[in-house]
Amino acid sequence: MLKVGGLNLGNPVMLASGILGSYVSSLNRIAEHAGAVVTKSVGLKGREGYKNPCVLKLECGFLNAVGLASPPARDFARELEGFNRLCPLIVSLFGSSPEEFKELVEIFEVADAFELNFSCPHAKGLGLEVGMDFDLVYEIVKTLKGKTEKPVFAKLSANLDYVELAKVCESAGVDGVVVTNTLRGLAIDIVAKKPILSNVSGGLSGKAIKPIALKCVWDLFEEVEVPVIGCGGISNWKDVVEFMLAGAVAVQVGSIFYYGYDVIQKILEGLKSYLRINRLSLDEIVGLAHKR
Ligand SMILES: Cc1cc2nc3c(=O)[nH]c(=O)nc-3n(C[C@H](O)[C@H](O)[C@H](O)COP(=O)(O)O)c2cc1C
Repeated sequence: MLKVGGLNLGNPVMLASGILGSYVSSLNRIAEHAGAVVTKSVGLKGREGYKNPCVLKLECGFLNAVGLASPPARDFARELEGFNRLCPLIVSLFGSSPEEFKELVEIFEVADAFELNFSCPHAKGLGLEVGMDFDLVYEIVKTLKGKTEKPVFAKLSANLDYVELAKVCESAGVDGVVVTNTLRGLAIDIVAKKPILSNVSGGLSGKAIKPIALKCVWDLFEEVEVPVIGCGGISNWKDVVEFMLAGAVAVQVGSIFYYGYDVIQKILEGLKSYLRINRLSLDEIVGLAHKR
């Protein structure tokens, strides 16, 4: 059993937020193999999200501006009552004030832990825009840590000064940081001569962002004490080993699920063989690349 910020995980590979929509059936399927599953981000009121096209496949990954589309919190909490509990359930929350986040924590009794979305790059007044206000982030984390005994993780973005923000979260008592969310990006249709996404810009995920996410993990491992969870462009077990050698205690996988549901099983098989061949334990590889 692996302990990450007070949460017991069967293995270090989690499902990243937002990847499989807001239905519990998909989470239940992934929970059979995952270390933990993170839900789609949810706020107090439902959000429709942006019009199509809102997800675009690129050669190097995906660009999306779904716009935090989600059901109202109470409806989603009811949906999550059907979670099979084969692994911990982390509920991802968005909001714009400590009071909103506090109410969300009360609603999601079903959660084993919370992930705070300070990083979505395409929702006005939410996500990344909240993450830019370090005082507000401090207040939100501090308020929640005074409210719940459950682990609280903060999801950060490489588009921000993530080291400073992680330190702010740490000083407010956060149990771990997740880095990174999608990164601001744009695509233009050269025939129509206009941006492709209905929201104009969106968030880039997948292979293209892996080196950026890896560098974030590397820096945070050196700068903060709290556990670092790596996310961004992970597509196989070798990527997971890289993230762990850089300092991640666990990882989240997202876009790669578009190519099949058996991603986590394959990663775990490869990771196990790597550890056996190298005669190392999971604990021993975390941050090992820093000992040069
Ligand atoms: C379609 C889509 C929806 C997403 N929705 C959310 C979300 O609701 N909350 C969140 O924190 N991250 C969301 N993300 C970001 C992912 O959780 C992840 O941080 C990002 O995609 C990088 O990981 P990846 O390269 O493995 O996909 C979303 C990503 C995609 C592609």
